[in-house]
Formats: sequence, C-alpha cells, structure tokens
Amino acid sequence: MKAWLSRLDSDLAFSPSSPEELARRELSAALPDTLFRLVTDPSLGEGYRISRESDGSLTVSGGKTGVLYGAYALIRLVLAGESIPDAFSSAPKYALRMINCWDNADGTVERGYSGRSLFFEGGRLRYDPVRMRELARLLASVGLNVLCINNVNVHLPAQLLLEDYLPEAAALAELFRPFGIRLMFSVDFSQPMQHGIPTADPLDPAVRSWWKDTAAKVYAAIPDLAGFLVKADSEGRPGPFTYGRNHADGANMLAEAVRPWGGVIVWRCFVYNCRQNWRDTKTDRPKAAWENYAFLDGQFAGNVILQVKHGPFDFQVREPLSPLLLGMEKTNLAMELQLAQEYTGHQIDIYTMIPMWKELFSELPADRIMSLAAVSNLGRDENYTGHPLAAVNLFTYGLLSWDPETDAEAAVSAWIRLTYAFTREQERALAALLLSSRRTYEKYTAPLGIGWMITPHDHYGPNPSGYEYDLWGTYHKANRDAVGIDRTESGTGYLLQYPEPLQEKYKDPDTCPDLYLLFFHRLPYSFRMKDGRTLIQRIYDDHFEGYEETEAMAGVIRALPFPEPDRNVILSRMDLQLHNAKEWCDIINTFFRRLSGVDDARGRKIYD
Ligand code: GCU
Repeated sequence: MKAWLSRLDSDLAFSPSSPEELARRELSAALPDTLFRLVTDPSLGEGYRISRESDGSLTVSGGKTGVLYGAYALIRLVLAGESIPDAFSSAPKYALRMINCWDNADGTVERGYSGRSLFFEGGRLRYDPVRMRELARLLASVGLNVLCINNVNVHLPAQLLLEDYLPEAAALAELFRPFGIRLMFSVDFSQPMQHGIPTADPLDPAVRSWWKDTAAKVYAAIPDLAGFLVKADSEGRPGPFTYGRNHADGANMLAEAVRPWGGVIVWRCFVYNCRQNWRDTKTDRPKAAWENYAFLDGQFAGNVILQVKHGPFDFQVREPLSPLLLGMEKTNLAMELQLAQEYTGHQIDIYTMIPMWKELFSELPADRIMSLAAVSNLGRDENYTGHPLAAVNLFTYGLLSWDPETDAEAAVSAWIRLTYAFTREQERALAALLLSSRRTYEKYTAPLGIGWMITPHDHYGPNPSGYEYDLWGTYHKANRDAVGIDRTESGTGYLLQYPEPLQEKYKDPDTCPDLYLLFFHRLPYSFRMKDGRTLIQRIYDDHFEGYEETEAMAGVIRALPFPEPDRNVILSRMDLQLHNAKEWCDIINTFFRRLSGVDDARGRKIYD
C-alpha cells in the first residue's frame, strides 16, 4: 500500500545514495518513455525549475533536494494524467515543513488512530526499512522535510535517543537523508538530572555544559539533525518555571547548545494551567499562551522557533487564530496543526482539514510564520492513516506547507486522482464531500464555536458536561438561560489580545461571525441570530443538519467504486460515523432542550 503513490512503481528495496539518484530512479519509473536531464544548481536551494527542450526532453534543475522536489512535482502531474506545462518553477514558502509524531518508545502512539508506531517497539527503535522508505517517499513527494519521530511527552527510554540509542537513530537518519528529510527529536528539559546534576536550571553552568556536550555527540552522529522539539512547563512536563526562569531562558540555553551545528530549538507554546479550579472565573485558558510568551517577544535566540497551536485552546473543530501568531513580530514562529483527528473524529469520521487551514492562512499576515508543523496522523496500519480518506490531510498539508496559496479544491482533487481511478464525475462527488466534511462534523458536534462537549480524555463522542467541573479550563457554562463565555473586555478580556480589525470584528455579538459566536460571547437562548432564528433554534437546526448531511454523505460514499481493501474500511467507518453523528445530534439537542425547556420550532424529535 503506497497511498497516493500506489502507481509509482520504482523499487524501494535498496536505499538511494542521494536525492539526485532517487530523483533519477523515480523519474525513470514514472516516465519510462521520456528523456530527462537533472541539473544540480545550488542557487535554487530546495526550489526547482522544469523546462521542456526543443527535442521534447525535460530538464529538471534544482538545488540538492530541489531536483527531488522537482521530480515529484512532475511525477504528481504524470500520475494524475495532467499535461506537463512547457516550463514551470517553484520554491517552498517555509523553511521547515515538519511532521511531529507523538510516538512512544513502547510502540504506542499518543492520540494515534492508525495502529502502532512506525518507528518504535518494545522500548527501542524498530522499523521495517522498506516501509520507512515508502513513508519517506510519501513525505518528500509533497515537499515535507522534517520528521520528529518521538512524542513531545518524553519519557524514558525515549530519552535514550540522545544517548545509548544514538547509533540506531543515526541509521534511521541515514535512511531518510536521500529523501531530503531530516530527523528531529523531542527532548526532556530535565534530562541532565538523569546524570547526577541536581538541577535542570537553564542558567546553571553544569546544566549548560551537559546540553552542549550532548548536542556535540548527537550532531557528531547525525550532522543534519534539524534540532530539538521541546514541550516545557506544559501538562506536567518539566521546564524553566521550576527554577524561577522564563521560557526565553530555557529555549536560549538549548539554542546555544545546538547553534554550532546549525540546529534549531522548536519550543512549543502550549502552556496553561491544567489544574484550574472550575470555580475560578478569573482564569480563562485561551489567554494563557499570550500571558506566558508575548512579553518575551524579541528575546529569543535566532535559532529558536516558537511553535504555536493554531488556536488558543487545543485543536477544536473551530477556534479563532491564536493571537500569539499575530502578536510576536520579533520572534521566529511556526504554526502547529494537528493531522491526528484527536477532537475531530479519530480517523473514523471523515474530516478533511484543508478548508480550515485555508481560513487560518487568510487571517495570518503573509510573512508572520517561517515554518509549519503538524502532529502526525500516521501509524503502522497498512494504509498508514487508519482511514484511507484521512491520507488527504497528509497530502494537502504537504502542499500547503510548500505553498500556502495552494487551492483547497485543486489539492483535494489532485489527491483523489492520484489515489483512485475514478471518473471525473466520481472525483467531483468525492471532492465535494471531502471539502464539506469539516463543516458537517462541526454541525453535529459543536457548532457556533462552543467546543469541548466531547467525551473527556478519549475525545470521541458527545458528553456535554464532561469537562464542566474539571481542571482543564474548558467550560461552556450552559445553564437554563444562556450558553458561552464572554471573552470581550467586559468578560475575561481575552479579546484584548487581538489587534484591530479583529477586536472590532469579534466584539459585538451582532457583527461577530456566527461560527465564533459562543467562543466570544455568552448569550441567552432567545438571542436573535443574523438570519432571524433564535440561538436555541440554530443549535437544534445545526445538529439536525449535521446528521442529515452525514446520511447524505453515506449515500455518496456507498455509491463510489473504492477498490479493496479501502472499500471495506471506508464503509465500516462510515457506519460508525453515522452512529456517532446520531449520538451527537440527539444528546446535544436533548441536553439543551432539558436546560432551556424550549421546543424545536419544527417539531422534530428531541428527547425528554
Ligand atoms: C493535547 C493532547 C495531549 C497532548 C497535548 C500537547 O492536550 O490531548 O495528548 O500531549 O495536546 O499538544 O502537548
């Protein structure tokens, strides 16, 4: 199973020696009847230029990895049956186009819905080299270039990647190298303490020299390691706060250790109080990232990148763009997306993300971020992504990380064309379904920006009060009269973290887009929406519509000629999705009707 490259027939049994050799091999397999020439031009870097010569042959020019990306761009066109333009060129917008795997050394995957880890088993690195090259090829074919293989929650023995397991990690890095993919490791901020140093204080000389020595050893083994990824002072992970230091102190200390080797520190900003008392109305979780980082703007070393989740909560179906991504103009930033469908259907429900990403990019100033990261949706399942249709998220993420201007519909259609031999009509039907799937999921789960009505911890299925009286800081506070949180100046003040014109756009419930209404405002059920419906009626309508759309989706899916083994997986998951959508629809509507006592104006069945 080779996902969208199943028609590319070259042999992955032995390792290519360089991106150029790989490009040559791949092109010979995809274009057996076309003469082509590869020209390495270092000035093009990761970019490429393709031109057709007068004799009909093709010249692919590019930097060291650019030739490979050029070859794959060409191959994508050929396999999709597109015509090849006489000349075209491209270069990536973002330097680091990262996949973050949350894989544990014991072989489990945190928030993984595609089977066990592709890299680890039994506490060690253990993998199938052919599958690794297959995976590397998939990633490279859409321009991805950094792979962090271990979970941001680093526990022993994953820490040994920097130590005893380094030779094995170096062998894996070597395997990925010809594909232009550099490894990255998640590191534990307190790791020096495993070595008799009594502290992990970033300003302590012994700590600093431990990291320097360790970085030197790691880079001697893996000279092109992209760097370290760090989750510090977040959900129980160690960090600089323990020592009265801030996150610039912590990140800069590590940055100094990797700087001589050209490495970067990717420092995550997912810091909030996860032990909140629900009785405390002053603390509002979305405010946390800004409070912890905004004042440090300009204080991070040049090789630190702050990695910020796209929204201020945690990968809900709809969140406004994190204000940190708008505010920290003097800091290198990466936006973090999540391919793993943690809150968005566990790769059981169909949920295509690119429409959501395009919305985020439309609010992000053009040059604000310099890199992009996404939590992996990959695993050891035969099809890599659990649900065959979830591969569209990996594919389109790659294209978007190369070029954020990528058109959503074109990208989804290209994926379908590469993956399935459908007629144009079937392709259009599937593309329309995929492109609307996020909105459908949003309607039957948590419309109007409310979020967090999901089953706690597992995060699949409805549980409207599951997170109401807990410590994670995620409340909707629905009562018999009203629902939502006032995050304007008169409420928690979160909105004040935004620049204009966004403050203006969100501050008044009459102008705030419906999709964000209950994220920014607390409103009575009788509130009149822009379309004249009451809020409660809109809640009922959205949930009923979400379920109806899922039924219609099932009809389309069942009629499409997916080949086996995909068909079987897709159909059985579609049944599970239908069941899930029904549960969400009925439980949420019943929840609100019981609270509000208001009947559905259209007399549909809501339970007592
Ligand atoms: C979420 C997720 C965790 C993960 C965390 C993170 O809270 O549920 O499993 O560790 O995000 O991004 O670090």
